[in-house]
Amino acid sequence: MTVDRLGRPLRDLRISVTDRCNFRCVYCMPKSVFGAEYRFLDRKELLTFEEIERVARAAVALGVEKLRLTGGEPLVRKDVERLIALLAPLGAELTLTTNASLLAAKAQALADAGLHRITVSLDSLDDATFRMMNDVDFSVSRVLEGIEAASAAGLPVKVNAVVKRGLNDDGIVAMARYFREKRHTLRFIEYMDVGATNGWRLDDVVPAREIVERIAAVLPLEPAEANYRGEVAQRWRYADGSGEIGVIASVTQPFCGDCTRARISAEGRLYTCLFGLRGHDLRARIRGGASDEELQDALSAIWGKRTDRYSELRSEATVNLPKVEMSYIGG
Ligand SMILES: C[S@@+](CC[C@H](N)C(=O)[O-])C[C@H]1O[C@@H](n2cnc3c(N)ncnc32)[C@H](O)[C@@H]1O
Ligand code: SF4
Repeated sequence: MTVDRLGRPLRDLRISVTDRCNFRCVYCMPKSVFGAEYRFLDRKELLTFEEIERVARAAVALGVEKLRLTGGEPLVRKDVERLIALLAPLGAELTLTTNASLLAAKAQALADAGLHRITVSLDSLDDATFRMMNDVDFSVSRVLEGIEAASAAGLPVKVNAVVKRGLNDDGIVAMARYFREKRHTLRFIEYMDVGATNGWRLDDVVPAREIVERIAAVLPLEPAEANYRGEVAQRWRYADGSGEIGVIASVTQPFCGDCTRARISAEGRLYTCLFGLRGHDLRARIRGGASDEELQDALSAIWGKRTDRYSELRSEATVNLPKVEMSYIGG
């Protein structure tokens, strides 16, 4: 088993397959910054599906049990189902995070290729609020259609909602009610200070505790045990047995001590922390002719040196450090 300097094993790999997105969520790729002048990676800079499979295979050999495809928007990468078919035989749990804009058309192909489950990001059921948040006038109903299509294709669906105070926090309870009824687990994510472009302020964060209190006031909740070490969401069960919600308190209750995640950018840089600055260039190794064994050794050496615990240190002098963008590294 590969462990880092703080004894944390490598269990999850998040793979960004593109830095492009068809949304401009205000907390992630705000239009004011990522306008026409934003330079996306060229196609030849992206890892190919075969290169991604090599990295994933090396990671699985070192103990990774869960692979998550992300982006940018992973479904805008052409033929992403072909990548899923390449990764499925590795035996790890295979999942994908999407804004669901293209999901209604793609769900069956993703399931057929071997995807196990899917996470859909949806921040509000109120159409005007959601259109304001994605900033490309995309409707709630089309995301809900995508969720239905994924369910119909047999994919278990979780829904993620980022909460920003004054923007969508008034819809927390409506979201909880709706997805409780639909029996999809809903997870609320504290708005994080990832990247440098979203103008993050602590005042914009609705603490997870407050989210739970607001829901519990109308739909009684009780705490549930974590499913496994390193689970990022704290689980809460509805007292009447009608399902559960999760809260991801990365700002108010950081969980670095249990963090087992590595991330790879679309151009093949390995990050051992969401707040890592430069990452490690795996693409140069791959395109320089590294064997599978050398690739595995490189991953193992990088993880073995890991000491990151940014979120726990953020109260110290880290606030003004340059940060990698969420749309680049994939959350
Ligand atoms: C970067 S997106 C990539 C995948 C896909 N485009 C999507 O939105 O699901 C992955 C997740 O990160 C979340 N996210 C982006 N910026 C965030 C921020 N500043 N704080 C918390 N979560 C954020 C999104 O809501 C989404 O659930
Ligand atoms: S959160 Fe996802 S959908 Fe929204 S801009 Fe970022 S990458 Fe795109």
